[in-house]
Amino acid sequence: MYVISTNDDRRPDAIWFLPHFSVQDRSSRSDLDGSDEPVPHMNPAAGAPDAWSGSEYRENTAHHRAFDPPALWAFGLGAGDFLLDVGCGAGDLTAALADHYPQARVIGIDASPSQIEQARQHERPRLRYEVRRVQDLGWEKRFAAVVSIACLHWVPIPEHPLVLERIFHALVPGGRLVASFAGETNIVEIRKIIFSVADQPPYRQYLGGRLPHHPWPSLPRYREMLADSPFGGAEELRTETQPRPFSRARLTGWLRTQTLTGYRPRLPPSVFEDLVAEVSEKVAEETRAGDGVYVVPFVRLQLQARRGKTAI
Ligand SMILES: C[S@@+](CC[C@H](N)C(=O)[O-])C[C@H]1O[C@@H](n2cnc3c(N)ncnc32)[C@H](O)[C@@H]1O
Repeated sequence: MYVISTNDDRRPDAIWFLPHFSVQDRSSRSDLDGSDEPVPHMNPAAGAPDAWSGSEYRENTAHHRAFDPPALWAFGLGAGDFLLDVGCGAGDLTAALADHYPQARVIGIDASPSQIEQARQHERPRLRYEVRRVQDLGWEKRFAAVVSIACLHWVPIPEHPLVLERIFHALVPGGRLVASFAGETNIVEIRKIIFSVADQPPYRQYLGGRLPHHPWPSLPRYREMLADSPFGGAEELRTETQPRPFSRARLTGWLRTQTLTGYRPRLPPSVFEDLVAEVSEKVAEETRAGDGVYVVPFVRLQLQARRGKTAI
């Protein structure tokens, strides 16, 4: 158990001024490949460097936006409602949500300072961003809606019970969580390509056989975790296959700014660029689907849960 103290109920906009809570982090172990050594990016609070580049990521979010769940736009939020975007990245979706719910107050959090620096360019009244890990959420009964797109698969599976607990507590009773994140078989062939390239010279000498990826949850495993969480289950939990089309340039952009991002802090810059080029060439061969079109088989777990409801 952990204790969350909030003393911000006196003013409706006080959420913007909440300090970061200091709560015992039960999740400091980065359980990736049997080692305790922190792996870049995967567990930012463990002292690992920030692998993300907000300015580069910003140019490569369109493939996510094309597959955002329709439920994001159907919360029906009004004045006095708060919405939280967990792992908001460069903040474009968060800003679009603030446009869509003009009466609500919207906050985006992300573990990456670089992403939040980029996101803050969208800031305006009722829209704020801050550096915070989802594991460190400290709000209690604050948000009518919590959304999280393409973020939770960056959190190691053993930390998901804590994450679900924190999000549950941040929701008002009846508040809803809509999340979309990688499932077990996401880009499985592409991951094989990445692993085989990264395990060869010259990359291997820097990576030492330790690859910054961890397993992603299967549907049955996540169903169990939700049942064991304070949510008690989900209103919707399903696997969705999303064949995402990329141009050649966007394919490399996606690999460079997202899929390979965990490798960046562990490689000299020129070696990282070589890795991107080599992986991109092989992934292009694997995914070529026609004239200048490359289709990547994303597999997402699509989740909707409500605080106070237990049906699954
Ligand atoms: C692929 S980006 C998705 C960004 C955005 N949601 C979007 O759809 O464009 C994943 C983001 O999750 C963030 N992230 C990873 N682990 C996190 C954590 N433990 N807490 C908060 N954010 C995290 C990363 O810093 C990164 O910005």
